[in-house]
Amino acid sequence: MNQDNRWVVPLFDLNYDEEEISAVASVLRGRWLTCGEQTAAFEKEFSTFIGAKHAVAVSSCTAGLHLLVQALGLGSGDEVIVPSMTFVATVNAVLYVGAKPVFVDIAGVKEPHLDPKSVEAAVTPRTRAIMVMHYGGHPAPMAEYKSVAERHGLALLEDAAHAPGARVKGEAIGSLSAGAAFSFYANKNLSTGEGGMITTNDAVIADLVRSSRSHGMTSTSWERHSGRTADYDVERLGYNYRMTEITAALGRVQLRKLPQANQARARLDSQYRERLGELPQIEIPYSADSSGSVHHLFPIVLSSGISRDRFRERLAQQGIQTSIHYRAVHQMSYHKRLRKAGKRVALPITEEYASREVTLPLFPSMTEAQLDAVVQAVRTAVLEA
Ligand SMILES: Cc1ncc(COP(=O)(O)O)c(C=O)c1O
Repeated sequence: MNQDNRWVVPLFDLNYDEEEISAVASVLRGRWLTCGEQTAAFEKEFSTFIGAKHAVAVSSCTAGLHLLVQALGLGSGDEVIVPSMTFVATVNAVLYVGAKPVFVDIAGVKEPHLDPKSVEAAVTPRTRAIMVMHYGGHPAPMAEYKSVAERHGLALLEDAAHAPGARVKGEAIGSLSAGAAFSFYANKNLSTGEGGMITTNDAVIADLVRSSRSHGMTSTSWERHSGRTADYDVERLGYNYRMTEITAALGRVQLRKLPQANQARARLDSQYRERLGELPQIEIPYSADSSGSVHHLFPIVLSSGISRDRFRERLAQQGIQTSIHYRAVHQMSYHKRLRKAGKRVALPITEEYASREVTLPLFPSMTEAQLDAVVQAVRTAVLEA
């Protein structure tokens, strides 16, 4: 149950137990609080889990995306192709380095990831990279983006915030591009409150992001404390994007639980699909194929005659929390102000999706009774809203 017990079925609930509590207690007893042995062990375990050569722990996925964009040397005058159907951090990472995000439409309301054909059509002589996002934990078509990237000499980056453990044709998301950033934010599949991880197979990128996450310094406080070195130099302009030992200890427990938690999500997802799939008033994204997904979200798309506000209100009245993923980034006030006066961005499918999508509760410890309550409430609400 969530903290204030307001919801009968919250959108998300943690799967924490004594394991997380004792992991944190043992960090406190160990008296070393940041970027030390727990962080190094978490990186090693995460890189093995993903099957990527390098993993670098950071303070958030947003920090990870920023470091990746910077590691590619992107900046003013460069264009990066991005989705608008995403959380704002995907796009902001490009803005942080002074490059220009170029919004591209999604493939369809049932496939709300970047459309590879539209990606290719958006390439200009200034395009340097494509940033894809694996919406809801469903792996986006990496092979198609890869072939566009190769044809035009572009780098491919992944916002894998939703997708730890997702696989395409047996290969893990996070091992198929120049670099990927995962989120361990409070409501993600692997939750530590705040936190993130960069994965890459490229040693140069790994070294750059590792250095930049801690002020561009040549050694860490832990290395000096443990006597490996006494001094440091600063080699580049970096940031404080370090992970704490408490976060890393939580992350290690959560990583061990992740395969089972993702399986529980998959079972709930397929029950939802079975029981809501026939409703003519809704469409369910990724119904043709959701294999390889880690089911971070369960989105539905209401038909145009249904009022989304009334629908969500009906569910809220029965204690069922819902959300919207996402309001389109190109329609946010700040991002609209960045455009030249009179310049329009045409993303009809993204706008359609953004206006009709509702996210239903989905989390590993969700009970049959909770799923039942959501299904019943959706069935009635589509007739009344
Ligand atoms: C798609 C996507 N990208 C990036 C982020 C940012 O993650 P973090 O909060 O770890 O910075 C999120 C988190 O909500 C997200 O959903």
